Amino acid sequence: MHFQLTCVITFLLHLVVFSQCARILMLSPMGTRSHIYSFMPIMEVLAERGHQVTVVTAHEPKTETPSIRKIVISEIVEHLEAGWQSFEREGPITAFLHFFEESSTLATIGYQYLMRNKEIQNIINNKDVDLVIVDAIMNEFTFPLIDHLGVPFIFHSASTGPPWSLAAFDVPSAYATVPSLASEFKSDMTFLERMLNMVFDEIFLIVRKRIVLRRLDDLVRPDFPNARPIEKIERSAQLCLASYHSATAWPRTLPPTFIPIGALHVRPAKPLPNDLQNFADGAEHGFIVFTLGSNALVSSMPESVKEIFIRVFARIPQRVFWKWETGTSDSTEISTNVKMVDWLPQQDLLGHKNARLFISHGGLLGTQETIYHGVPILGLPLGRDQRRLKSFITEYNFNNLAKAEEENFGIKLEWSELTETLLFNTIEKILQNPGYLGNASRLSQLMRDELAPPKEVAAYWVEHVLKHGGTKHLQSKAKDMPFYKLYMLDVWLFLMLILMFILLIFYKFFAYMIEMFTSKKMKTE
Ligand SMILES: *[C@@H]1O[C@H](CO)[C@@H](O)[C@H](O)[C@H]1NC(C)=O
Repeated sequence: MHFQLTCVITFLLHLVVFSQCARILMLSPMGTRSHIYSFMPIMEVLAERGHQVTVVTAHEPKTETPSIRKIVISEIVEHLEAGWQSFEREGPITAFLHFFEESSTLATIGYQYLMRNKEIQNIINNKDVDLVIVDAIMNEFTFPLIDHLGVPFIFHSASTGPPWSLAAFDVPSAYATVPSLASEFKSDMTFLERMLNMVFDEIFLIVRKRIVLRRLDDLVRPDFPNARPIEKIERSAQLCLASYHSATAWPRTLPPTFIPIGALHVRPAKPLPNDLQNFADGAEHGFIVFTLGSNALVSSMPESVKEIFIRVFARIPQRVFWKWETGTSDSTEISTNVKMVDWLPQQDLLGHKNARLFISHGGLLGTQETIYHGVPILGLPLGRDQRRLKSFITEYNFNNLAKAEEENFGIKLEWSELTETLLFNTIEKILQNPGYLGNASRLSQLMRDELAPPKEVAAYWVEHVLKHGGTKHLQSKAKDMPFYKLYMLDVWLFLMLILMFILLIFYKFFAYMIEMFTSKKMKTE
């Protein structure tokens, strides 16, 4: 009722400018919490503008906008989270193979739970949707449903742009200058790195297309016999809204349908709960925020690793907020400058004037937050084990720390090399050297220098698609062109042949002249 009223009012207000209150469906059944943090601000703006928004997720999204309808497929959650298993990194080949196994299994599970949901079945039967926004990572199994609804759809990418989205939008490849999201290269790559950068992404794309997506096509066929192949559906998206910002990603050429909306979820700090506020205010040497993101269970870390942190924190004057899921630890020797909390209001802490350092696994959203608030980072990427594999699939962005080192606002350490001395020295290095803080502030200013808040920009683009029934006017012909045409291989070949032909004629001509000349000379002699 409340919604209808707003809708009517908005309708009247926008009658001249924009007269459509649309039914928008956001699909992210496989998205992690960080994906939800990333897209909810857009959903809130759309709902405030009078659209009827429905979000489909595994984790219940926290929102203060009452009109947003939530469909929570909570059965999927347990498949998205995992404990801490191993610090060993797998070799790239095993990790690669595991990736495909794991992603197929996850997609099958996700699809089955999605289809069993009554509310989803109602949507399938009633088709009461005008536009779909779909999470670009690990949610391919929802594409046939979108195709069945037959409405325009948009990708939302909580990453700076996974390779399949870049490929689907014909973003020119930039293997020479932009490290793959799955790599940990910097932009200045050696010959070998450039080669790996290209070969890895290209093989990845081929295997995904030929094996993973075909398996998914088979899986969904009984329910959606008329749906196009997933690969085709993917290419028919109207836009991709990506969390791409020059502070966290390397610059590259983007087509007009690939919209870099930057960091969506960052915001100024709000006051902290009382006990945290007092602890933060009283930190005369500043404080450190230590968390490994919303997916990893920090409290399942091995005792030996935990000991390292406890001992290092006891040696430094800074206070520490340490995310620990159970709130307290059994260890008795934790020093008084450490506060373990089961829930960290991360942005409110990073935005506090006493925040000095963020210790994190280097996920994209956390990195964006720490940049926005101008706090240097010490990154510890989680190993390429089971756990990392899942976050690899659902987050797909691992070069944030390489970028942090390149921009000199952070340092990356490996878990396998972690010792008390190394951790202590690295923390000291970042805290004592003003360059890290200086560069974090420099990037913070970059990120805050924006024409309009990113969520408004994203909402503008969603409404743009609704108003104009799609983005045909922005789509280049590249979409339906074969490779050789797009890259002008036929033209190059033709020009090459002509050049060779001309060279041949010159050669023949001079050969003839020389022969003439020498034979004349011989005669005269
Ligand atoms: C960024 O880091 C470099 C290298 O340490 C340093 O020379 C420079 O002064 C830093 N920039 C700022 C703004 O502090």
